[in-house]
Amino acid sequence: MGVVSKASSPSVLRLGLIGAGGFGSYTTELLDRQPEIELVGVADVVPELAERLGLARGVPHWSSHQALLEECDCDAVAVVTTHATHRDIVVDAAQAGRHVFCEKTMAITVADCYEMQEAADAHGIKLMVGHKRRFRPAATALKHALADEGLGRPLAVNVRGFFGRRITGFWSRRDDCGGLLYWAGVHDVDTLRYLFGEVDSVYAVIGPKVHPEVSDQEDAISVAMTFASGMVGSLQVSTYFPMANYHTAFGFDIVCEHGGLAYDPQRLTITSQREDQDVQEVQLAHNEADEAYDHEWSSFAGWVLRDEAPVLTGEDGLRCVEILQAAYLSAHLGARVNLPLARDERRPFDGG
Ligand SMILES: NC(=O)c1ccc[n+]([C@@H]2O[C@H](COP(=O)([O-])OP(=O)(O)OC[C@H]3O[C@@H](n4cnc5c(N)ncnc54)[C@H](O)[C@@H]3O)[C@@H](O)[C@H]2O)c1
Repeated sequence: MGVVSKASSPSVLRLGLIGAGGFGSYTTELLDRQPEIELVGVADVVPELAERLGLARGVPHWSSHQALLEECDCDAVAVVTTHATHRDIVVDAAQAGRHVFCEKTMAITVADCYEMQEAADAHGIKLMVGHKRRFRPAATALKHALADEGLGRPLAVNVRGFFGRRITGFWSRRDDCGGLLYWAGVHDVDTLRYLFGEVDSVYAVIGPKVHPEVSDQEDAISVAMTFASGMVGSLQVSTYFPMANYHTAFGFDIVCEHGGLAYDPQRLTITSQREDQDVQEVQLAHNEADEAYDHEWSSFAGWVLRDEAPVLTGEDGLRCVEILQAAYLSAHLGARVNLPLARDERRPFDGG
């Protein structure tokens, strides 16, 4: 496949897509809504997937990210591949001078994340990590309620991540995805950072493994966190709870100095009460991600094209991975793990 010559306006960001699986294909639909981004090529290590999506979108296709980086006339790439591949692809893209939008989860270890960010800095490219859940209606409503309703300082948060889902594909393989938290807890870990700031210690325990036929990762994990603010938090995740699905799980209960706040994803309500007032309930129209996707993609374009302040950065991706990795390290060691982790920390994913 030859070099693509573009007649695009200089104000349009030419983007190559790496990863033509489920979410990569969907990403091309999201890009249709971006007036400042033009899809100019697709790559996947499964050639048929690259070909199918390339033909469907009328753009050239390649069967490796290296070939796309060599031959595709793009300013930036979207990395929408399995988690364990993100590090190498992002470093290669940075070395090839391409800006990067990397899907969550940024990588498996903080050591990989630092190497990705260092490559981006060394080659002067911009690196955004796609943590869109924080821009969904429920997260932004919680953020506003915490700021505006006189509830005072947050003291504790509990996130209920119990839902029923038959895990398939790369999500079921620890080597590819990292583990249950890396796909089913990552959004909420990022949202916790968005709402409450940095986490400074993590203690996690893993429940019994009763479904080895489904995946090689844990069936249930429970994570306790302390935040730099002094507040405490907990997140529990399991995929064997038939009374909720992925969209109706991840409710938040938040205790504050002068009252409480809760998000109920089953009813799509935000409930709050100050100690001296009646209960307030806000009904959300929905908690869909469309606007969140548009928000992060238009921010990426604005960042690259006009140097506008980005809504998410590599630092957000790294700090999130740090919490996930610390949870598995804590479970492995049977001890509380303090953050930040060492820059070269690979445990417990180093085979040790
Ligand atoms: N933000 C969200 O809401 C959201 C939702 C779903 C998935 N995702 C993320 O999108 C990414 C992909 O998930 P998915 O559901 O599309 O998975 P998927 O398994 O459907 O697709 C991954 C694709 O990457 C390809 N691939 C693997 N290694 C590659 C390499 N080195 N070079 C090129 N292609 C390679 C695979 O062949 C596959 O087609 C993950 O990071 C996932 O967490 C994000």
